[in-house]
Amino acid sequence: MITGIGLDVVELSRIRRLDAKSPKFRERILTEYEQLEYDQLTVARKVEFLAGRFAAKEAFSKAKGTGIGSSCSFQDIEVRKDAKGKPSVYFRDIETGLVSITHSKEFAAAQVLIQTN
Ligand SMILES: CC(C)(COP(=O)(O)OP(=O)(O)OC[C@H]1O[C@@H](n2cnc3c(N)ncnc32)[C@H](O)[C@@H]1OP(=O)(O)O)[C@@H](O)C(=O)NCCC(=O)NCCS
Repeated sequence: MITGIGLDVVELSRIRRLDAKSPKFRERILTEYEQLEYDQLTVARKVEFLAGRFAAKEAFSKAKGTGIGSSCSFQDIEVRKDAKGKPSVYFRDIETGLVSITHSKEFAAAQVLIQTN
């Protein structure tokens, strides 16, 4: 059963600026697993990737109904891809959400659906 839906869009310029300022921003947003993925990307893809994960996590927090905060931090949410590249959302290591991520020249956006049995 679908129990939540969330959508988010972010400006790549904002994420590029925050990421260039300090590694602290991406360390706050990305889990260790996601940081390893980030480290392997080109400069242009790094911004898209970070912006897409940021959007996916905000979208998840909306689908959950809590927003980002103590009950749902960026570190609680992880996006993992299957062998074909399809992403899913994990909350505290449990697969919880369906997610779709997109980027254009200026924006990244994500939509999340939370499914419970
Ligand atoms: C819920 C949250 C994700 C909204 O994100 P935002 O970027 O502030 O705002 P957006 O424009 O993307 O979304 C706003 C909409 O979210 C929805 N929303 C707000 N709280 C919500 C909640 N608890 N559950 C679901 N949806 C919620 C509302 O519909 C709101 O629009 P409205 O006020 O016109 O009705 C936000 O409260 C939050 O937790 N932000 C994280 C802040 C943060 O740590 N940022 C890091 C920056 S370095």
